[in-house]
Amino acid sequence: MQASWHQDADKLTFIILSEKAYANGPASDVVSSMIGDVNVFLINHNDQKAAEVEVMIAEPEARGKGYGREAIRMMLAYAYRELGLTYFVVKIGLANTTSARLFKSLLFVQESVSEAFQEVTMVMDMSTSTVPRNLTTYSQRSLKERLAKDTLAAENE
Ligand SMILES: CC(C)(COP(=O)(O)OP(=O)(O)OC[C@H]1O[C@@H](n2cnc3c(N)ncnc32)[C@H](O)[C@@H]1OP(=O)(O)O)[C@@H](O)C(=O)NCCC(=O)NCCS
Repeated sequence: MQASWHQDADKLTFIILSEKAYANGPASDVVSSMIGDVNVFLINHNDQKAAEVEVMIAEPEARGKGYGREAIRMMLAYAYRELGLTYFVVKIGLANTTSARLFKSLLFVQESVSEAFQEVTMVMDMSTSTVPRNLTTYSQRSLKERLAKDTLAAENE
């Protein structure tokens, strides 16, 4: 499994770490800071460089803290800037309204609904619209600010 993560030519996986756990844990203790992952599967879409996106914040206590949004945003920016991808697809369970709202706020639009699979397909085409800067850049500054804020909060606990 780990070998395929490394070698798969059409899949990218980024592991999401909790800033707080990483900042406060033992040096280089990456494993205990893991809270989820974000994946991009490269696909074909009318000769356009495209990908299906998937995100999971696996630890329930890590949800609702902005990690999901930030992970998707950073993955989109990376895929756009570094890989030249311009078309993104996400498939979301019909009951998962939180995710649908989240992707809508990141400018994905509903393309279709499958009653058979009970899922909605949402897409974002960066080639046909002006892409907002906050979807194509990843700011080290905001990361540092959040790290500092989290560390401060942990010190005051
Ligand atoms: C969906 C998921 C990725 C969101 O990640 P997250 O880190 O929990 O979400 P964020 O903190 O970044 O918040 C994103 C938005 O969802 C909303 N949200 C998060 N948790 C919520 C909850 N329990 N109830 C209602 N809204 C919620 C937030 O308010 C936020 O919207 P806002 O920015 O307009 O306020 C995460 O909850 C998850 O992994 N769920 C299970 C797997 C899944 O559904 N994957 C998506 C399919 S591709």
